[in-house]
Amino acid sequence: MDLIERLKRIRSALYVPGSNSRALQKVRGLDADMLIIDLEDAVAEEDKEAARIEAVAATREGYAGKLVALRVNGTASRHHLADMEVAAKAAVDVIVLPKVEQAGQLGGLGRSVIAMIETPAGLYSAREISAHRACAALIAGTNDIVAETGICPGPQRQGLELALQTIVLAAAASGKAAFDGVYNALDDLSGLEDECLQGRCYGFAGKTLIHPGQIGIANAAFSPSPEELAEAYELVAAATGGAQRFRGRMIESMHVDAARRTIERAAKSHASGSK
Ligand code: COA
Ligand code: MG
Repeated sequence: MDLIERLKRIRSALYVPGSNSRALQKVRGLDADMLIIDLEDAVAEEDKEAARIEAVAATREGYAGKLVALRVNGTASRHHLADMEVAAKAAVDVIVLPKVEQAGQLGGLGRSVIAMIETPAGLYSAREISAHRACAALIAGTNDIVAETGICPGPQRQGLELALQTIVLAAAASGKAAFDGVYNALDDLSGLEDECLQGRCYGFAGKTLIHPGQIGIANAAFSPSPEELAEAYELVAAATGGAQRFRGRMIESMHVDAARRTIERAAKSHASGSK
């Protein structure tokens, strides 16, 4: 399966600071579908070089069954070139590039890239960024969008609605996955679950995460529930082609296709990170 398709099956993408060797080990036993080993904001200036060394060593040891991404510092950062040199030595599937504002930023890297959309300029260029041949998926960088714009998200993230939908639509227009931003309140698991379910309804494939305690909730929220799965089987079995009544509503071929995708997603969700 190619990278773009594999990314569509990722429910949970856990950031791991490249400077935290304990965390880099710990994630081997965790159920995250994807790891994003971070060299950017999670790593203090004085730890940048040590983080590069740790990241290469950890990826070379391997993360069986998981997709592995390396988040480098952005193209405008003085750390960017050193990070890209390390990316060439590390065993990673894809690069995460922060603060992408123009599609052209992806071309020079010579790698598949997950582009972070996290600035106003990035939001306005999201369609072209997603369509670039090097772009494998998008991530909504919600903390930066809030910081750069002064938007107050509000309890249901109403303030971010346009930004989130812009990112999902841009990704979908070029057949790629989009991942929702992180949930900062580490101890509010019910708030996290609500936000995961909201993100799924917006059309995100999965959620970026910051703590091991968030993984199970994201995996469950972005997997079909038993009720959804049962209904999908029933719908496929009932379908006769064309428009018909099913459980009091109209269904057509696109609903059958959607039900088939639900069944396939449920079957593959346990092996979602595997190659
Ligand atoms: N990945 C892997 N392991 C992690 C982890 C992560 N993102 N966050 C915490 N852990 C581990 C800790 O190492 C610790 O392991 P141990 O019990 O074996 O020692 C365990 O999980 C519990 O951690 P906890 O004490 O609850 O976390 P903390 O209070 O020390 O740290 C954060 C909280 C937010 C600083 C930390 O979770 C973190 O660095 N998250 C990622 C931040 C990041 O990458 N930001 C950039 C993208 S937004
Ligand atoms: Mg950011």
